[in-house]
Amino acid sequence: MAIRKIVEMGKDDILRKHARKVEKFDKRLGVLLDDMADTMYEADGVGLAAPQVGILKRCVVIDVGEGLIELINPEILWSEGEVVDAEGCLSVPGRRATVARPEKVRVHAQDRKGSHIEVEGEGLLARCLCHEIDHLDGILYVDKMIEDITDQMRDEEEGENA
Ligand code: NI
Repeated sequence: MAIRKIVEMGKDDILRKHARKVEKFDKRLGVLLDDMADTMYEADGVGLAAPQVGILKRCVVIDVGEGLIELINPEILWSEGEVVDAEGCLSVPGRRATVARPEKVRVHAQDRKGSHIEVEGEGLLARCLCHEIDHLDGILYVDKMIEDITDQMRDEEEGENA
């Protein structure tokens, strides 16, 4: 396991590229997922997508405080509702903004062995699932943001980075 360097917006255009579908569920994939989880926890984030560590593969790790979730080739099956809330990104340090996301989503994905799984999330987990899946398509939250959160507003709430 190792901490990998997190790519920042504006410094590397890999964040804007479309990640490739994972076809091989091998040891190398396991190492990537382990490293991604270590990197996410080290950075105090709640989610991390492979392009954020410079790897164009459709892999995501998430932990919103309910345990680690690993998603390979994730796709949103359905979503409902809409919530506007604060969001941040480990690739856009020092900044937070409001973004409208679904209240609830259901995602199909594969686990590290290639088995098909489904994950349903509400609230922060739904937000995080959408944020990370966007990363796989080169989309950053700043593309969808409504408004920046100022320091004054920031003092009033605690947010998460993904
Ligand atoms: Ni992010």
